[in-house]
Amino acid sequence: MVGKPLQIGSVRLATNLLLAPIARYCDLAFRVVCREASTLDWDRGGVGLACTDLLSPAGLLRGTQHSLDLARTNDLDKPIGMQLYGAVPEVMAQGAVWAAEHGATVVDINMGCPVDKVTKKDGGSKLMCDMEKAVRIAAACRRALPKHVPLTCKMRLGWSCPDDAPALACRLVDVGVEAITVHGRTTDQRFKGTADRAKIRQVVEAVRAKTGRWPSGPIPVIGNGDVTDPTSCLAMLRETGCDGVMIGRGALSHPWVFRDCWAAQLVEGMDLGAGADAPELQMPPEPTDEQIIALIRRYFALMLDYRGEHYAMHMIRSRISWMARPLQRPGTASIKPFKEVVRLAADPVAVEAALAEFLAGGLRGVGHEAEDLAEAT
Ligand SMILES: Cc1cc2nc3c(=O)[nH]c(=O)nc-3n(C[C@H](O)[C@H](O)[C@H](O)COP(=O)(O)O)c2cc1C
Repeated sequence: MVGKPLQIGSVRLATNLLLAPIARYCDLAFRVVCREASTLDWDRGGVGLACTDLLSPAGLLRGTQHSLDLARTNDLDKPIGMQLYGAVPEVMAQGAVWAAEHGATVVDINMGCPVDKVTKKDGGSKLMCDMEKAVRIAAACRRALPKHVPLTCKMRLGWSCPDDAPALACRLVDVGVEAITVHGRTTDQRFKGTADRAKIRQVVEAVRAKTGRWPSGPIPVIGNGDVTDPTSCLAMLRETGCDGVMIGRGALSHPWVFRDCWAAQLVEGMDLGAGADAPELQMPPEPTDEQIIALIRRYFALMLDYRGEHYAMHMIRSRISWMARPLQRPGTASIKPFKEVVRLAADPVAVEAALAEFLAGGLRGVGHEAEDLAEAT
């Protein structure tokens, strides 16, 4: 629904936009940056809900440092979904309780991950091949969780058949799942092709037909796949009829995409509502270079604070390509030298020096602009 904040169980989100779990990318520091980027020259919100990487419930219960690092959240990172993967209902249920006790606003079950490490143990999207098991896991988690903590599931269209999601979604809402997210591809597709909005629509219609008259209200369906800007966000909402939109890869280079997608919905809503007296609502401006560098600086500082120098250096070197993309504006000199200097930086002082030099007008090349723009698209 265009411009309508999402209600998931007892939790009311500020918007209908969600930051997707993207393992190794959407860590605590990045999630905070996305939330803060939603406020650039704009005070009406953007990110409604963010999500952790997929978490091993066994790792959480054992207290493994890796799992605890992935599950880490704080007051700047609310509301937050914690996503669990696995195939053993009792362990998943204990993991769900752990998540609720450690700050999760919402607990999500991963039914879409195509990675061998996860599917070989019958978890992730393998659950789409065993509907009974998927339903047992969801039922066990729902029973174990406190009532006020919503349970959600994120799935693909199916393993190889793109028509499996509607039936699974309907079985899941029957056992108390309070929102369904659908990535519009099958597992076989991995990330090839484009997200199939017509198939997402079938899930929306099936869940709406089943839950539309429930006294607690219909269960929302969240559309996911290939949304990168306001145009694709509005297309997802219109063509699928979904209640919310989840954005992943598009946020990696444009963490303010939630601000823009929410603004576009509000502007669209006003257009639809028309009326000559309606106050004018403008789209927020593109962030300036200064604002983008401030976001990169903030991301780096948060990583240093949360995870230390080794982690922060590794991440900034590998993520600078994504985060710097919007700095390559048409008609301007190449930013390749800037990205290269950050990639080769020896320590945080060198990263900071590169950011400062770029802002002062340095670290730009000539002749590579076309190449950089091609890389950025
Ligand atoms: C590198 C990578 C890691 C991902 N990790 C997760 C994950 O941990 N849990 C999950 O449910 N989906 C994961 N996804 C899938 C995304 O959440 C999302 O469904 C997918 O990228 C499609 O949305 P997008 O086109 O907006 O990126 C991952 C995707 C990528 C590219």
